[in-house]
Amino acid sequence: MSSVIVDIRNLEREFKMGDETVKALNDVSFTINAGEFITIMGSSGSGKTTLLNILGCLDKPTKGEYFLDGTNVSKLSKTELARFRNKKLGFVFQSYNLLPRTSAIENVELPLLYNPEISAKQRKEKAMKALEAVKLTHRTHYLPSQLSGGQQQRVAIARALINDPVLILADEATGNLDSRTSYEIMMLVQELNDVQGKTIVFVTHELDIASFSKRTITLKDGKIIKDNINSNVRNARKVLEGLPLISEPSIAAK
Ligand SMILES: Nc1ncnc2c1ncn2[C@@H]1O[C@H](COP(=O)(O)OP(=O)(O)OP(=O)(O)O)[C@@H](O)[C@H]1O
Ligand SMILES: [Mg+2]
Repeated sequence: MSSVIVDIRNLEREFKMGDETVKALNDVSFTINAGEFITIMGSSGSGKTTLLNILGCLDKPTKGEYFLDGTNVSKLSKTELARFRNKKLGFVFQSYNLLPRTSAIENVELPLLYNPEISAKQRKEKAMKALEAVKLTHRTHYLPSQLSGGQQQRVAIARALINDPVLILADEATGNLDSRTSYEIMMLVQELNDVQGKTIVFVTHELDIASFSKRTITLKDGKIIKDNINSNVRNARKVLEGLPLISEPSIAAK
């Protein structure tokens, strides 16, 4: 039997701007089971980031309930929420959000830095394991500026993996990358989902990217207008193999 990781019921999120109220999310309900790989789609302003921020416990709904891994998130205090977030979730952003003067491995270690139960040695070991999962062990001591965009996003993914979260949340994680690099990231995401069984929610406005996921939820004006199982999931590895080879050396070879 599959276990429910996310259970969202009648969620609403309003933003008040002077006299005007924007309903960024309007009566949104769905569940996510362990092992799913979901994309959230919709045009600009449809509520994707608002939804992801609530899923990520970075924002609270105006109305409705959110259960994450069995816990009613709306009942947690600010401190409890921060701890819960750190333990249960991994984040990947469009702009990588890496610390610039900090090496790849140190960036990956960050979520564990404030955890007194984990020693410096354990932290290093876990960070190496996460970097191994994203195939970057040859770049552990590089600074973000010495890495390509795709490599920086891999570091960010390793950082999201280090706590062994129940859910990985990505907001336009391929938005800054060219199509080949995007497919490489999607290959990695598919592998994390298929091989390691990670549960992933991936916001994108590109149909091309959504076709790699197993299920797509589409938002319009803050409402779910479609929630489809993708019967024809594309394999990112195969798509990559079908692309013409580029002859010039990439930044990766630097
Ligand atoms: N902090 C805020 N204050 C006021 N309005 C907001 C705020 N955040 C979002 N909104 C409004 O809520 C709606 C949904 O915004 P959201 O950022 O979730 O859209 P999105 O689907 O992520 O769009 P994009 O594809 O452009 O990133 C928009 O109309 C936006 O103006
Ligand atoms: Mg957005």
